[in-house]
Amino acid sequence: LKILFASSEVHPLMKTGGLADVSASLPLALSHMQQDIRIIMPAYRATLNQLGDCPLVSTVKLEGYHHPINILQAKLPDSELIVWLVDSAEHFDRDGGPYCDADGADWEDNAARFALFCRVAVAVAMEQAGLNWQPEVVHCNDWQTGLVPALLSLQSHRPASVFTIHNMAYQGLFSRQVFETLNLPEQLWQVEGLEFYGMMSFMKGGLVFADHITSVSPTYAQEICHYDYGYGLEGLLTLRAEQSRLSGIVNGIDTNEWNPQTDKFIDHQFSIKTLRPKTLNKKALQQHFFLPESAETLLFGMISRLVSQKGVDLTIDAINRLLTEGKDIQLVCLGSGEAGFEQDLRVLRAKFPDKVGIQFGYDEALAHKIEAGADAFLMPSRFEPCGLNQMYSLRYGTLPVVRNTGGLADTVVDASEDNRKQMLATGFKFDQPTVEDLYDTLLKVDELFSHPRLWRRMMLTAMVQDFSWKNSAQAYLHLYQQLVDNS
Ligand code: ADP
Ligand code: GLC
Repeated sequence: LKILFASSEVHPLMKTGGLADVSASLPLALSHMQQDIRIIMPAYRATLNQLGDCPLVSTVKLEGYHHPINILQAKLPDSELIVWLVDSAEHFDRDGGPYCDADGADWEDNAARFALFCRVAVAVAMEQAGLNWQPEVVHCNDWQTGLVPALLSLQSHRPASVFTIHNMAYQGLFSRQVFETLNLPEQLWQVEGLEFYGMMSFMKGGLVFADHITSVSPTYAQEICHYDYGYGLEGLLTLRAEQSRLSGIVNGIDTNEWNPQTDKFIDHQFSIKTLRPKTLNKKALQQHFFLPESAETLLFGMISRLVSQKGVDLTIDAINRLLTEGKDIQLVCLGSGEAGFEQDLRVLRAKFPDKVGIQFGYDEALAHKIEAGADAFLMPSRFEPCGLNQMYSLRYGTLPVVRNTGGLADTVVDASEDNRKQMLATGFKFDQPTVEDLYDTLLKVDELFSHPRLWRRMMLTAMVQDFSWKNSAQAYLHLYQQLVDNS
């Protein structure tokens, strides 16, 4: 099949979270299955700096835009996968992140930036960009690509469209005035369109107009049909589920990049056959954070965007409580995000300097070192569409502590006595997003950690789980084929 994969972030060319990982590893998996898949993404300044000179392959003239837009061609690093970069200096050639400036404030022209990106993706999809290639399926991801299905729906002889929800919490909402500046067809402004309580919703463009919607785990696909997780779109999503046009496909992970046996970021590679070096990674991690090097101390790791979704506040409070009670545990945390959470973490470290290590900012290498060196991984998310870190943790024998929601529910098996007896347990799960529930669970983790034999058994079960893209890429391919056959 010919597939165009549209995303606003693609690892390692631009990344703020798991969307980037998936936008590289899923297309790679599909290309290894002999599919003709190409990625389209914005040509951010940081992306071009990384890639160097990229050949210009097309110049697209869009109605209503003064300048023609260039499309540059690159390869995804270390692969043959073609990436088309939408190069509009006015929109993407700037310092800062893909959505926010250096201070963390949303770019004021985000609607214009991603509307432009969507229009170019549509031009490519309709073979109006002179690239001599037309996809049979366009796979869109999150709100930044939501206008693609909307604009495609106005075309005849169009490719099929799939829209994947990676996170319902970010919808790309803008005012009616902004909608007017975008010069979009007025017919898109309706409840059965982009309009959402008087605002314009990019997300709705995907949900209303895509031929099929997927989300990144079966449990999250169900959760978003309910009030608590649907952000006002639960009605539409329920309808799509009833129409069999919404499904959940759990993300896979790049098992080459996240492989403790070959990981180039860690000092001591290990595997189920040679587990011992993991303790050396733990020691190195304790050194990195200037914590006492103690093999017996239960070391928790956390790598996260510091936002409410991730339950960072629950972690801080529960760990604070355990440390106040004198428990022999340590926490190392790598993250960036909201200033309030950073401040609370600083306070925790100041209170327990030999128990808590933190590093703010984004650090790929350290993320691998934490997965390799920690004993357990904290992910008490309030909601989690899929979550990748718990799967990385499982592969590294770092037992995840997760709330029973979304993809966490689908990928971790709780250490209940039954599950442990049957050698199925891989982590620790709790139900309510409260400090109390997390605290109780951490006590259980601590208790189990004091039985090295039981702990080791769980580590081994965790490490042999298969989180490769094999099954899920196949599920996407099956879906694409169905849509193409029906169109
Ligand atoms: P989300 O996309 O909601 O942030 P995921 O678990 O799906 O959550 O993906 C997060 C990805 O971002 C993982 O690859 C994780 O290792 C990475 N990550 C998050 N914060 C950092 C950080 N500060 N430094 C390095 N990697 C990070
Ligand atoms: C989003 C979600 C995360 C998911 C990722 C990739 O960022 O928050 O749970 O793993 O997308 O699909």
